[in-house]
Amino acid sequence: MRRFIALMSLAACVGTAVRAAPASPAAPFEDTMAQRTLACTACHGKEGRAAPDGYYPRIAGKPGGYLYNQLLNFRDGRRHYGLMTRLLDPLSDAYLMEIAQHFASLDVPYPAPQPAAVPAAVLERGRKLAQDGDAGSGVPGCVQCHGARLTGVMPGTPGLLGLPRDYLNSQLGAWRTGQRRAQAPDCMAQIAKKLTAEDLTAVAAWLSSQPLPADTKPAAAVAQPPSIACGP
Ligand code: HEC
Ligand code: HEC
Repeated sequence: MRRFIALMSLAACVGTAVRAAPASPAAPFEDTMAQRTLACTACHGKEGRAAPDGYYPRIAGKPGGYLYNQLLNFRDGRRHYGLMTRLLDPLSDAYLMEIAQHFASLDVPYPAPQPAAVPAAVLERGRKLAQDGDAGSGVPGCVQCHGARLTGVMPGTPGLLGLPRDYLNSQLGAWRTGQRRAQAPDCMAQIAKKLTAEDLTAVAAWLSSQPLPADTKPAAAVAQPPSIACGP
């Protein structure tokens, strides 16, 4: 409960700090975006590099357009997390864009990959899905859109490395059930629904056990137009 109250009072700051910095001579308020978004980093970890609990996702260094779309998705009901949505409700599109650009610009270290707790054959199936997809079930390779290095593609596609297995499983599961949606055409909903439960587990296990490449930045563009269309 104490943590909840602390979060909610921090939450109040995100909206108000923009308009009025507190004038306390004892503790001068440094009016930077890093200060104004302390309520966010309370859950998303220092500088948005993810909390160690394996669930609150990293937001640092993801493409700005992707982060902005997610803030709109939470605010407008395509994704659901009440405690966070309450922070976003009062904020304008322009301010959400500023917040998104702030986190996108941060270049902070990634956690070590998680050890894969699955048999080698499952891991190999995961690698195959990520890199080549499965023509039989119509699943395109993740690299088609998430980039050859899987570090994302500007402006709207996030990287898939450095994310905890639990988070990957839950996001793909949420797309299957319609709990998570993106603006139409929602390519990830189509892809997640084509993955069998075994394939979903395999690709999440493989992705979460891969080290980041030396260049962790999102790619500027995809190599070829993907086989399925995605929204903005
Ligand atoms: C109470 C904890 C909490 C707070 C505070 C919070 N978030 Fe979140 N945030 C979450 C959780 C949990 C998720 C993942 C929800 C889900 O399952 O989709 C999330 C998801 C996100 C995502 C999507 C990440 C991705 O890779 O898709 C973004 C962007 C984000 N938060 C930004 C923010 C910003 C900006 C703030 C501050 C204004 C904030 N969050 C405050 C808990 C929080
Ligand atoms: C046709 C293009 C396309 C392909 C192929 C694709 N993705 Fe995506 N993916 C996207 C886009 C676009 C988004 C961002 C959606 C949004 O705005 O919410 C996304 C988002 C995601 C996310 C959310 C990440 C986060 O930080 O919350 C996950 C997880 C994901 N994709 C997994 C996969 C996996 C696994 C595969 C391969 C089996 C795959 N994707 C193939 C386009 C694609």
